[in-house]
Amino acid sequence: MFDTLGVLILVVVIALFGFLATRAWKLKNALLKWGGVVITGLLTLIPTALLVLGLIGFYKLNGRHNNPVTDIQVAGTPAQIARGEKLAQICVSCHTSDGQLPLSGTNFAAKFDFPPLGTLYAPNLTPTGDITDWSDGEVIRAIREGVHKNGRSLLIMPAENFRNLSDDDVQALVAYLRSQPATGGPTPTNQFNLLGAVFNNLSDFRTAQQPVGSVTAPQPGTPEYGKYMVDVIGCRSCHGDQLQGKVDNGQPGPPPGPNLTQIVPQWTEEQFMTFFNTGQLPDGSTVPILTLPSGFTEPIMPWPEVRAVASDDELKAMYAYLHGLPPVEGPAK
Ligand code: HEC
Ligand code: HEC
Repeated sequence: MFDTLGVLILVVVIALFGFLATRAWKLKNALLKWGGVVITGLLTLIPTALLVLGLIGFYKLNGRHNNPVTDIQVAGTPAQIARGEKLAQICVSCHTSDGQLPLSGTNFAAKFDFPPLGTLYAPNLTPTGDITDWSDGEVIRAIREGVHKNGRSLLIMPAENFRNLSDDDVQALVAYLRSQPATGGPTPTNQFNLLGAVFNNLSDFRTAQQPVGSVTAPQPGTPEYGKYMVDVIGCRSCHGDQLQGKVDNGQPGPPPGPNLTQIVPQWTEEQFMTFFNTGQLPDGSTVPILTLPSGFTEPIMPWPEVRAVASDDELKAMYAYLHGLPPVEGPAK
């Protein structure tokens, strides 16, 4: 992706004010001369800095990843489709406009109120979308490694969580994607403008991962399996790498969550299940609702989504894992 028009406009602005700066330099009146040089100088330097940041940004956005593609044909058994449909609940908030399957895609940037950085769609993943022409291996690579068919890094797509998906689960997801009813049309091509490229430099949106290889899920019902679900669903994106809680650092991204290593060990399994079934905390309060100007609304702790993804047994395994965590220092609630 490249923004020819944006780059041209900046080059013209830089040339214009650069030229005016040389004219100001020649003025006789000292006040006019230095005033003119400072103003035109700044109006040359600032766009030059933006241009440099933008060009580096585009260089990064266009970088290619040659992660290998596995040569696999997903069978698409009813059991795989059913498992995949459950896991696809992780994808609905980004890949749909209404939060309902099928994953027919949406204008992601508009839904989540992005500044005008360009177009960013979470693509249509039904048979009328682009991945119809992708091999199963390419779709698996996109999900677990954040790499587009053409080798560029996907943006925002949380591959750092999905890289934990087992071979069985990621194949189940592909089976479900292929089984969806054809809905909607092709997705517009994602294209960042110069401002988007500058932003990508300041806060990297790329999510490409190192090659994943083969992953096997732990034995269901164990705390290890609970950790597996916590990693796949992506609790750490909001609650921190060690689930030690996050503070708001002013960066764009999901809302920071509190320290789970100090909270969940004090909860009973019943309180944990009640929270995910109803959104009610042990003290009787409920989590605040986030509402964006676009109309998107969801509890800031997305418990309905977690509930939709995980079975009762999986939630209990997640409880067992979180309950057993040694407390880590981190921001208190
Ligand atoms: C946080 C938001 C988010 C979540 C959650 C998410 N995605 Fe994505 N996904 C995106 C965005 C945005 C893109 C487009 C990125 C780009 O083009 O750079 C994308 C791209 C993709 C692509 C590449 C398709 C194409 O046509 O380019 C696949 C495949 C995909 N996602 C599958 C999934 C699956 C399966 C899940 C759930 C397990 C999921 N995604 C969850 C945001 C998300
Ligand atoms: C999109 C960000 C986000 C994700 C993903 C997320 N959380 Fe949260 N979570 C929050 C926020 C924000 C709060 C604080 C809610 C409040 O202020 O009451 C929270 C609160 C909680 C609480 C209640 C603690 C308390 O006393 O408020 C638990 C338990 C919890 N999260 C567990 C999880 C688990 C387990 C996962 C993964 C399956 C998860 N969260 C995923 C953002 C998130």
